[in-house]
Amino acid sequence: MKLPTKIAVLTSGGDSPGMNAAIRAVVRACTYYNLECVGVYRGLQGLIEGDFEELNARSVKNIINRGGTFLKSARSKDFLTVEGRKKAFNNLKNENIDALVVIGGDGTFAGASVFFKEFNFPIVGLPGTIDNDINGTDYSIGYDTALNTVVEAIDKIRDTANSHNRLFLVEVMGRDAGDIALNAGIGAGAEEILIPELNMGRERLLESLSRSKKSGKTSSIVVVSEGDQIGKNIFGLAEYIEENLKEYEVRVTVLGHIQRGGSPSCFDRVLASRLGVGAVDALLRGETDVMIGIVHNKIVSIPFSEAIKGSNEIDKELIRVADIISI
Ligand code: F6P
Repeated sequence: MKLPTKIAVLTSGGDSPGMNAAIRAVVRACTYYNLECVGVYRGLQGLIEGDFEELNARSVKNIINRGGTFLKSARSKDFLTVEGRKKAFNNLKNENIDALVVIGGDGTFAGASVFFKEFNFPIVGLPGTIDNDINGTDYSIGYDTALNTVVEAIDKIRDTANSHNRLFLVEVMGRDAGDIALNAGIGAGAEEILIPELNMGRERLLESLSRSKKSGKTSSIVVVSEGDQIGKNIFGLAEYIEENLKEYEVRVTVLGHIQRGGSPSCFDRVLASRLGVGAVDALLRGETDVMIGIVHNKIVSIPFSEAIKGSNEIDKELIRVADIISI
């Protein structure tokens, strides 16, 4: 099998802090190995539209500290069609590009895997999402920064919760995965954490809040994952609590996209750099149709088919710790 000499890199799906650091690492690894490197703007959509730019080591200066992705990102509907993917393949061939690094989440990997199977085009992926919902890697790029953003926000909310003896429901991101809610909830000292993987039920939440009041707590923080069963309608949940527990004055804060932005943490910068170099190393070993992840602090390759299987099981030990320390 012919090894690649010209590699394209793109970011796709929701942006996450550290994507720039990952692009930088891919570009610089290419320079290190004397490979050409091309940046694709706007993810898989830019691949279809031929939105390419040659990159060199200096094109990626001063970006390791920047959030977002300078290559921009998109959720491409056209890439779901055979015609779209054919156009993308032709654009790559016309530019003599012989391998691709995609940085994104499970949707990106699913598309990349189909593309590899259709055109036998070498592709590796890097997990870039704040949700940390990718199978086969302990961490995804951007997750640690998002956790720190959430904890910082909740620390501020706590000041008001405490000053006014209020209960705050704080909604955090994570469509299908409770990793952000659970870890930020523990880190910020939340009284309750609602996650999609465990349906607590409204009644049990009321009982628990009631117990908290009786135990002498004057204010409370409940962290609610956006995908949680009872927390999906967070304003409805706030009304329900106020109707049933008259002693509580409830406020809602939806953190939203503030969680996706900002300068990446050192952890995310290092992770992104290691995975970016790992992606080029993997392509040069002839690997394809795989995601480069990190497991027990070692860089590993996992087939896309495994990576898109859904999030890792939620850690029961973390749930137990959260329960104990919120007494
Ligand atoms: O997958 C990352 C994520 O931030 C989810 O947590 C969230 O549900 C979703 O993206 C929001 O997507 P968009 O920015 O397209 O509204």
